Amino acid sequence: MLYFPAMATLNSKSPLAAIVLAAGKGTRMRSSRAKVLHELLGRPLVCYPIELARSLGAEPVVAVLGHQREAVEAALLARFGAGAVAVVEQAEQRGTGHAVRLAMPALAKMEDGMVLVLYGDVPLLRRETLEELVGTVRRYGCLALVTATPPDATGYGRILRDERGHVIGVVEQKDASEDERAIAEINAGIYCGPADFFREATLGLGTGNAQGEYYLTDVVARAARSIGVSAVEAAFVDVCGINDRQQLAEAEATLRGRINRGWQAHVTFRDPASAVVEPGVEIGVDAELGCNVSLRGRTRIGHGARIDDGCILINTEVGAGAQLKPYCIATDSVIGPGAIVGPFAHMRPGSQLGPDVHLGNFVETKKTVIGRGSKANHLSYLGDTVIGEKVNVGAGTITCNYDGYKKFPTVIEDGAFIGSDTQLIAPVRIGKRAVIGAGTTVTRDVPDGALALSRVGQIDKPGYADKVKERYAAAAASNGAGKAGPAKTASAKAAPKPAKRPAAAAKSKSKPAVKVSAKSAKANRRS
Ligand code: UD1
Ligand code: CA
Repeated sequence: MLYFPAMATLNSKSPLAAIVLAAGKGTRMRSSRAKVLHELLGRPLVCYPIELARSLGAEPVVAVLGHQREAVEAALLARFGAGAVAVVEQAEQRGTGHAVRLAMPALAKMEDGMVLVLYGDVPLLRRETLEELVGTVRRYGCLALVTATPPDATGYGRILRDERGHVIGVVEQKDASEDERAIAEINAGIYCGPADFFREATLGLGTGNAQGEYYLTDVVARAARSIGVSAVEAAFVDVCGINDRQQLAEAEATLRGRINRGWQAHVTFRDPASAVVEPGVEIGVDAELGCNVSLRGRTRIGHGARIDDGCILINTEVGAGAQLKPYCIATDSVIGPGAIVGPFAHMRPGSQLGPDVHLGNFVETKKTVIGRGSKANHLSYLGDTVIGEKVNVGAGTITCNYDGYKKFPTVIEDGAFIGSDTQLIAPVRIGKRAVIGAGTTVTRDVPDGALALSRVGQIDKPGYADKVKERYAAAAASNGAGKAGPAKTASAKAAPKPAKRPAAAAKSKSKPAVKVSAKSAKANRRS
């Protein structure tokens, strides 16, 4: 670089601000959604450069928004909270230089600091690259920019260097000569420099170029003549912008690979290519992840936990040593240490399983707290429920928590035993060590230690199966002589009905289809 010692007024305490350019439309996305709102591993694209800038201590971070400004601003508010990101509107996109110029007043308070310029659609930029960029500016007070060498440089601004290799300017594709277009090194569009340099240089920009825009790239030649320019080279994949959905998918695969390789230092991935681990996730030592596992949002996986194939966890905490068998889904939930869950369990928001809880296949929970060591192993719905410790919830237990208008709570206290196929009509409380007989519909509170039972008495009809069989056989015989078996093609009218249809007869009070005699009932009991 060209080094001008007189200009080097920055030091390790100089404040850093960032401008993130995100006003463009992103036509090639062919979307009704602004390009920077398309998501990469669960976050809008624009969040990536902003997070990076914030992690480097940049303050303020100014986003230049235009296309769908309200929607983008709302997304930033949702992600970073009020006041974290300053927004400047660029109603008409008159070029990158114009965008930076509009942002400068938002940095008016920082006289002697540095400004980082980032793009909202370049999400894979590495922290190390920016650290080098900022470090260079701190040391030399120059303008620093990121360059790369893509397989095909078409469309990008080319880096112009003098015979000694110093950067002297950037020429845009549309303004470049034949020779300049042959240059392989491109401008990534990411810069850092003294704030006062940007302020002055962007005021001096004109539109005398092929696109009639204010080019931010024109400040490079200006810096080369004054404060000096330094280039930081980066891998093209790290700096390439997202312009269409194919690039979005490629970027997601790249980021996924990066994140998963990082975790592989202490986490076993059965298939790192298929596991999706979003950037906000944390995973403890010796955890194991199966194929097609998806860990999203603020999910935390404890030490030694095992998350088997196909599990999808969103904002969910999994305790140490817990085991999730294949295809469990959990959202906004907590799974205690040592718990065993699934396969095919569904924990909806507000599910909290204590330590060593067992939740089996086809069990759905919602806003339900389950105490230590309790089990619900098969086919249940537990909603708005508080379950104590060491409770056994039998197969097919359903909390009837909704009357069509309101939700009601169910409480099951420590040590209770809920028999299979029980309905608990909420609001209801099952006392400590109470026993609910299988098939019971519980409509009122059950005292501690009591048995609750509600069943319709059993009726046995001996010989019933044979009688039905005979009746159908007789009907078949009288229907179309010579034909074997029941008439399959005959119309409903043509086929004579059995004298008595079992279902209709069974309903009739006056003429029971089968009489239950004392004698046959006994015979039935013996068999
Ligand atoms: C720009 C650079 C080019 C570089 C390329 C890298 C200029 C003149 N050219 O190209 O040297 O190789 O980036 O991708 O700077 N934006 C605004 N307001 C505007 C214009 C753009 O906010 O008025 C934003 C866009 O939303 C985008 C970024 O700036 O995030 C870059 O704009 P884009 O049009 O993609 O870049 P080019 O100008 O083609
Ligand atoms: Ca029942």
